[in-house]
Amino acid sequence: AKSYNIVVLPGDGIGPEVTGEAVRVLQLAADKCGFELKLSSHDFGGIAIDNHGKPLPDSTIAACEASDAMLLGAVGGPKWGVGKVRPEQGLLALRVHFDLYANVRPALFPSKSLLSLSPLKESVAEGTDLIVVRELVKGLYIGEKTEADLTPGAAGEAADVMRYNRADVERITRLAAFLALQSSPPKKLHSIDKANVLACSRLWRHVVQETVDREFAAQGVEVDHQLVDSAAMVIVSNPRKLNGIVLTENMFGDILSDESSVIPGALGLLPSASLSGLPDGKQKCRGLYEPIHGSAPDIAGQGIANPVGTILSAAMLCRYSLGETRAADAIEAAVRQMLDARADGGDEVRTRDLHGQAGSKDVGDAVCARLEKLL
Ligand code: NAD
Ligand code: IPM
Ligand code: MN
Repeated sequence: AKSYNIVVLPGDGIGPEVTGEAVRVLQLAADKCGFELKLSSHDFGGIAIDNHGKPLPDSTIAACEASDAMLLGAVGGPKWGVGKVRPEQGLLALRVHFDLYANVRPALFPSKSLLSLSPLKESVAEGTDLIVVRELVKGLYIGEKTEADLTPGAAGEAADVMRYNRADVERITRLAAFLALQSSPPKKLHSIDKANVLACSRLWRHVVQETVDREFAAQGVEVDHQLVDSAAMVIVSNPRKLNGIVLTENMFGDILSDESSVIPGALGLLPSASLSGLPDGKQKCRGLYEPIHGSAPDIAGQGIANPVGTILSAAMLCRYSLGETRAADAIEAAVRQMLDARADGGDEVRTRDLHGQAGSKDVGDAVCARLEKLL
């Protein structure tokens, strides 16, 4: 049987709670589909600062190097604050170390019964189907930084540099177009920038258009360009207008992907994949899979976190890094059935963020029970 080496990075706060459920689901899918998993957990984030003095210890990097894919919970929390050594630095370092330049964040299509839980009017949320593709290793996150001198009397000036080049924009555009071409007809690309102000955005807009014209127009891929401020408004007022692939740079993508979680109704539902290349099965594509939410310190340790975003991240892991499509499809179907159980006469299993009573474990159990039947 095929065997895969999966590194689990539970991290901080609700991280261990949500990865615990996702690993149970992943293991069951593997057993049923006939592949083997070698799972190992490693310290990462705040817990790694406590145990090793830094958020991304060498032993964790070595384990990730040797893995076929990485599954992450979340990092950070009030214990580590925004001091000199921060858990979040580990996440940025991991992204850069493996050159995980493409962050794919689908805003889960709301199941019929979830639609009523969306804070948006049903008529607004209905039919939304968008995927945010966020550039992940350049921009303000990574450019040169000047920390402010905060001692009294000092000028206290800080700087973060945003820098993009042609190759950076070309490769993320190719990945977005690859995803667009998975559908027939191809999904539309909506490139988001601030080209009326930023030089990086003028480069971005030009290179996105040029790459699509040169390499993808003949296959029917189309792109339009929008300014980020107005796109932020459209996401919550008429999100169907952005159906397709929302392609954007690092920080805009961070903000727009949290915002788009409003559409299905909860941050805890949304998964992500961070990839180092096209997931076309032709070459090994490294991937880090994690929910888009953080460590939710306000609810950590209570067993009530919604593990759906992490479970769906595990499905993306099967699809993009393992090529185990059947397992991926079944996990996604099991989640959808669970959220929509009333449709077949049962009760939905929902955590509190979805106005339910279920705990994280109940959700894991319910997904596993459905997976048993599906596979
Ligand atoms: P957050 O995403 O952790 O929480 C925002 C709100 O959503 C909270 O009310 C929280 O309870 C709720 N929430 C989030 N995930 C949930 C889930 N699965 N189920 C139920 N409710 C959920 O954002 P924050 O509070 O701004 O950040 C907390 C910490 O997490 C910070 O240190 C931040 O840097 C870090 N963070 C890490 C990641 C990551 O590891 N990728 C992502 C975002 C934030
Ligand atoms: C995310 C998070 C991270 C980001 C933080 C924790 C560094 O918000 O994964 O969206 O901003 O990229
Ligand atoms: Mn974020």
